[in-house]
Amino acid sequence: MISLNIEKTFGFISKESVFGYEAQVKAAQEALENGTGKGNDFLGWLHLPSSITAEHLADLKATAQVLRDNCEVVVVAGIGGSYLGTRAVVEALSNSFTWLQKEKTAPTIIYAGHNIGEDYLYELTTFLKDKKFGVLNISKSGTTTETALAFRLLKKQCEEQRGKEMARKVIVAITDAKKGAARVTADKEGYKSFIIPDNVGGRFSVLTPVGLLPIAVAGFDIEQLVAGAADMEKACGKDVPFAQNQAAIYAATRNELYKSGKKIEILVNYNPKLHYVSEWWKQLYGESEGKDNKGIFPAAVDFSTDLHSMGQWIQEGERIIFETVISVEKVNHTLEVPADEANLDGLNFLAGKRVDEVNKMAELGTQLAHVDGGVPNIRLVVPELNEYNIGQLLYFFEIACGISGYILDVNPFNQPGVEAYKKNMFALLDKPGYEEDSKAIRARL
Ligand code: PA5
Repeated sequence: MISLNIEKTFGFISKESVFGYEAQVKAAQEALENGTGKGNDFLGWLHLPSSITAEHLADLKATAQVLRDNCEVVVVAGIGGSYLGTRAVVEALSNSFTWLQKEKTAPTIIYAGHNIGEDYLYELTTFLKDKKFGVLNISKSGTTTETALAFRLLKKQCEEQRGKEMARKVIVAITDAKKGAARVTADKEGYKSFIIPDNVGGRFSVLTPVGLLPIAVAGFDIEQLVAGAADMEKACGKDVPFAQNQAAIYAATRNELYKSGKKIEILVNYNPKLHYVSEWWKQLYGESEGKDNKGIFPAAVDFSTDLHSMGQWIQEGERIIFETVISVEKVNHTLEVPADEANLDGLNFLAGKRVDEVNKMAELGTQLAHVDGGVPNIRLVVPELNEYNIGQLLYFFEIACGISGYILDVNPFNQPGVEAYKKNMFALLDKPGYEEDSKAIRARL
């Protein structure tokens, strides 16, 4: 199991103050369980891991196999919660260089619909020109501009390149059961489709087909992913006492740190494969807690890389931060530092040591330096990177987020703030129905 250690926060907050949250955590857990809290129509994720059936997984795997049999490349078209979970899991589990290798055991997964970069889309469509590609069109609302725009380009190209019949086979929609353009198109074109449940918001949807299908296409074991999440669901259930409930302790600790003036939480990894786990986590916590003029700002760094950029700020900048480190206990490969007769770089003192030992000492040294510099440190130990442990990690952060949001007294399941930019963008683009807004916004330019 993954394990949490908050001891290096105790110079800043006390153990008693963390345990003082027990009643608030209990209330939050009951509100989640009984559906009596804010945003209670979006609690479908709560018992999702334990309710996923073998039939559902088999259906996902069968569809994944069709894509695996017919595609060299699969484009995941989605934004926010409709792509970050996939990318987090796929990148955590993939060989860092697979996409550059000629011999492949699974389609290469690439991403679109998460930006409006003309150069990005031009380069993507050019790259796909001689490729047998498929598309997963992922959008809960089915109307998100970034995703719809990319899908429009990809659908046309796929049909032209691969023919209508093959396109129908290798384009799959993951969207609402009834509403939205993605649903209408899927039904009209006869695409295989999967439903995103109404009661699961985008950022909590990685264990729905939103994440499970592309992760299966990439060749990873979705049964193990779900099993890990289901075990964490049990381990962090509402009847597990506070002292043993790691999600409860994490939620309480970060709220106490926030109360003590630590306004920014930096998620830290020492394994570059975890970069997108941090991106997923930033959306989960940022969209869930950043509202009503409150909420911890979720930031992330990759160490030791960013010790050479952000390390200075973290060590000596304004003391409003704390760190949560995801530490991977055992790496998947072995590589020793070689001896070198000339020793021009002076590194012979490391000869024969594992590279991971050097990394672990960087981690330990940084933890102590940052604590000395006034940065409380929470540590989450993941035994190794595999589907089961990543499943645990995903659910751990989800349930802790639900609890933490309720402690903060916000609705962790809405995101009203993301509409403001869309309204202005549509007004500036003269979208039908936005005539009055267009006039008003132009008057301000
Ligand atoms: O968490 C959320 O609900 C959002 O960030 C969405 O994930 C994001 O906006 C994508 O929305 P959709 O899946 O409707 O295209």
